[in-house]
Amino acid sequence: MKFREFSHKVYPGLQFQKQSRKNTFIHDTFLRTFPLQKNKHMLIDTHTHLFLKEFDEDRDEMMKRTLENGVKKVYLPNIDSSTTSQMLQMEEDYDWAKPMIGLHPCSVENNVQKELAHIEAYLKKHKFAAIGEIGLDFYWDTTYKEQQIEVFKKEIDLALAYDLPIVIHARNSLDECIEIVQAKQNGHLKGIFHCFSGTLEQANKIIDLDFLMGIGGIVTFKNANLPKIIKDINIKYLVLETDSPYLAPTPHRGKRNESSYIPLIAEKIAEVQGISMGEVAAVTSENAQQLYKL
Ligand code: NI
Repeated sequence: MKFREFSHKVYPGLQFQKQSRKNTFIHDTFLRTFPLQKNKHMLIDTHTHLFLKEFDEDRDEMMKRTLENGVKKVYLPNIDSSTTSQMLQMEEDYDWAKPMIGLHPCSVENNVQKELAHIEAYLKKHKFAAIGEIGLDFYWDTTYKEQQIEVFKKEIDLALAYDLPIVIHARNSLDECIEIVQAKQNGHLKGIFHCFSGTLEQANKIIDLDFLMGIGGIVTFKNANLPKIIKDINIKYLVLETDSPYLAPTPHRGKRNESSYIPLIAEKIAEVQGISMGEVAAVTSENAQQLYKL
């Protein structure tokens, strides 16, 4: 345990160098371990699709890196009925990976009744952290706009009935999503506007709804407007997310994203808000734990 005591000093490496040469072995071990000691904060990835095939080759190693980087819990938003079993398998394999159930707006077609029946059946037999990921996506395709709105509203009703938070995907549709949540808010609805990249005015509407904003890799992008917006948002309304395998933060931009990159997002928020990494970790983790009961 001597090892641990040293690691808590400010410059433990220097302390070690003053020790006798006999400690060379320990010293080397220490240097190899030092990067892990830096991430002593407990972090949470509130939105990550680690059950997708992009991780089939190296899921174990990726999960190990994630834990080593201080990310102690990951929340898995479902895509549609075709991904439920892979997601639940991940929960079995890693008890710190918590599932959600919901229909991603990009999976909405003429399948709404079947998908809603799937969600309801699973809600009756399994515990989920949230209804997610749900919402509206008018960026790729608006063919099923009406169906997207219909299923989003029904999923919010299910969240209220099961007393679960919702995780919202809003692409080219943030105002519409905010309006739907405003209409449904009866004082019990809670959740996250995931991958937030809106205006300060939209952020304030989300805060008025008592919802949180998920901040991901976009905040680290060069020329991103998001840092200017979140500078003025109280951190008690923010949570961390990767949305893996998409939207990897700098310097991994354009490559596969993974939950082990969460510290890069936390560091950027700390820099923008002028607070410590410890505070970002503590407050965002508390926000996530308050919301997700699993
Ligand atoms: Ni997502």
